[in-house]
Amino acid sequence: MATKKEKPVVCAILAAGQGTRMKSQTPKVLHKLCGKPMIDHIVQTTKKLEPARVYLIVGFREELVRQFFGDGVYYITQSQQLGTGHAVLQARDELFGYKGDVLVLYGDVPLVTEATLRSLLDRHRETCASATLVTTRVKNSSGFGRVVRNRSGRIVKIVEEKDATPAQRRIREINPGMYCFEAPSLLDALTEVGASNKQQEYYLTDVIEVLVKKGKKVETITTADEIEILQVNTRKHLAQVNRIMHERVLERLMNDGVTIIDPKTTFVSETVKVEQDVTIYPFTYIEGYTHVGAGTIIGPQTYITDSVIGSNVVIVMSYISSSIIRDNSRVGPYSHLRPEAIVGENVHIGNFVEVKKSVIDDNSKVNHLSYIGDAKIGKNVNIGAGTITANYDGVKKSETVIEDGASIGSGTVLIAPVRVGKKAVTGAGTIVPKSHDIPPNAVFAGVPARELKPHEQNS
Ligand code: UD1
Ligand code: CA
Repeated sequence: MATKKEKPVVCAILAAGQGTRMKSQTPKVLHKLCGKPMIDHIVQTTKKLEPARVYLIVGFREELVRQFFGDGVYYITQSQQLGTGHAVLQARDELFGYKGDVLVLYGDVPLVTEATLRSLLDRHRETCASATLVTTRVKNSSGFGRVVRNRSGRIVKIVEEKDATPAQRRIREINPGMYCFEAPSLLDALTEVGASNKQQEYYLTDVIEVLVKKGKKVETITTADEIEILQVNTRKHLAQVNRIMHERVLERLMNDGVTIIDPKTTFVSETVKVEQDVTIYPFTYIEGYTHVGAGTIIGPQTYITDSVIGSNVVIVMSYISSSIIRDNSRVGPYSHLRPEAIVGENVHIGNFVEVKKSVIDDNSKVNHLSYIGDAKIGKNVNIGAGTITANYDGVKKSETVIEDGASIGSGTVLIAPVRVGKKAVTGAGTIVPKSHDIPPNAVFAGVPARELKPHEQNS
């Protein structure tokens, strides 16, 4: 963002609070919205402004927040949560000597948009203010700090709801918590903020009054958007914001040519990419880094996360995680694809089939009631109903290989490690002991499996 004329900007996002009103052992900012922690939405939005740094002020169970972002942001610890002003003050060493701007945001206001932050920054720079903040006029101002102005309309201070007089409570212009400060003015003012208020906290909002009293320039921009400023203080808020985020994603998808049969019961995360002419039936979740190819039909009642789904695939009533399904395949109803299931083109995975860490290559079929784990299944293989790859001997997992064109009879148990050769056949109910590989083109049956000679094969 820093060009020759512009001052640099860093972002500080407050994420140290427990979020008492959430009644949770998880820090509030890690509660998920649209499939990812609420703080991640804010961090990703601020990163669009290309700030020199993004600082997260962390405290309550900070290890969890650090674990989520890793090296993607800078951390500042606020060991005791003594208020939003105290939180920002913890950045004083980091910001010491820094003459640029600081964008300060709260970690519980996840719908904030890049456009609003840009207008805030632009206004701040145009007016060369010491502080600029967003304000919003709302119908219901409860839960927000109120913006107090003088007769000539200049901002005087922000009053927290708990400290407001009845007249101040009636003010409809609120503080959504999006600020841009000149760093030295911010640090200077913060040292003058006390905690003699109802909550006995050091309020960041008091910085405004301090700056005004010092004769510093404080500017505001007023947005009309009542949605963007929604904060998450309670689980009810979490559900409301989650709903709004999903609606936004679905609207974008519909604009891009995706059919959503019932937006009220369909949940697609922001991170999901969906191509044209995909149809999503009700009661379906698609989350994580999932890609869905053109013309695919998903649902009803399907859950997919972190998976790559090809074009013209049909997935009905199934649960799929960290898997790949290539073009023209059919999955379900009632299939479970666990991590590292790789399904080729034109494959059929049918009802009550579980696949884990296995490859099922093109044109193969596993239509009914089977478990395929740690297996490599070639092309044009037919797996009969009730086939089990017994991959676990109680100590270690072993691999089953079924080569191209093989046909596995119903109820076959393949005790791994074992290999079935090309075009080999097993009869119904065969139990193949471990390491008893079946050669190509052979027909095996029985318990334990033995080779059937041609004259025995039709019995
Ligand atoms: C704050 C504002 C209020 C504004 C509202 C907008 C103050 C004093 N009040 O109130 O004017 O209308 O947000 O959403 O700033 N946090 C810390 N350390 C702390 C305290 C809080 O990091 O010591 C973090 C929290 O984790 C949270 C954010 O700051 O992400 C906001 O704190 P919260 O307690 O929700 O502030 P509000 O009472 O909602
Ligand atoms: Ca809040």
